[in-house]
Amino acid sequence: MVEEVRHFTSIQDLSKDGLLRVLEKSGSFKEMAAEEESHEYLYQRTLGMIFAKPSTRTRVSFEVAMTELGGRAIYLGWDTLQLGRGEPISDTAKTLSSYVDVLMARIFEHEKLLELARNSSVPVINGLTDLLHPCQAVADLFTILEVKDRLAGLKLAYIGDGNNVCHSLLFGASKVGMDVSVASPTSYAPEDGVVEDAKAQARETEADINIGEDPEEAVKGADVVYTDVFVSMGQEEERKRRLKDFEGFRINSGLMEIAKDDAIFMHCLPAHRGEEVTAEVIDGPSSVVFQQAENRLHTEKALLVSLFGY
Ligand code: CP
Ligand code: NVA
Repeated sequence: MVEEVRHFTSIQDLSKDGLLRVLEKSGSFKEMAAEEESHEYLYQRTLGMIFAKPSTRTRVSFEVAMTELGGRAIYLGWDTLQLGRGEPISDTAKTLSSYVDVLMARIFEHEKLLELARNSSVPVINGLTDLLHPCQAVADLFTILEVKDRLAGLKLAYIGDGNNVCHSLLFGASKVGMDVSVASPTSYAPEDGVVEDAKAQARETEADINIGEDPEEAVKGADVVYTDVFVSMGQEEERKRRLKDFEGFRINSGLMEIAKDDAIFMHCLPAHRGEEVTAEVIDGPSSVVFQQAENRLHTEKALLVSLFGY
């Protein structure tokens, strides 16, 4: 087993101060990019990116981030690696980490991501598992901070599936003192363990975490209204049942009206207009989804350099 390597498998790998520092660095990287100022902090470093699921934002933002940091990224599709033919994750981790300086992986089972990290001699970043999507939550918090100029004391309403995105938002928001109200259909609530940890953090930051089933109740007084797809990657066979179970959980302008007047709409993307959100909302004036998507680039740079101790 390899020890003393810093990984980013969850928002919980960062302290509150560590997370706030990443957000501050993200702002600096965004400014440097806007001013075309060189920021080659990872000159000649290589990121290996393992993908067992599709990706647009995560793949491209990490690749561009590494290039602009002076390094490079290699795309490693799961089925193009010997992993796809059954090579153990531990052997893959030991081998790849002898070539590259940092690894990022998008894998189905969270436990496999942890196994990769346990056996890697270089930092491993979680690019999404079925349990968590921490890079997304960092970009989301950075976006909220940009728009609202603060985090603590705000209220985020998450409507829909209590999934990977919801879990990482619960960790991130409770860490920085944001209230979170989740509304999901019965049996799609976020996992108990995640909710318990988020509630424990929220007690320290004086935030409120509420888990319920009523979207209207959840969005009351919300500064941020957030949703994600009803059918995540790997759940395609459940599509019909899920769409039925999620009836009544679509974000529409009526629901947005119950939130604060200046509430913003957020979505990690990809989105399905007409399923979890109406086109009117996602393409409307309160939507910040493309600012959120752009911010993946800046926050990923901040995460990468943090793992190298900058
Ligand atoms: N939000 C997000 O992670 O998008 P991709 O699946 O396109 O990477
Ligand atoms: N919950 C979605 C997020 C996509 C970025 C999924 O896992 O497919």
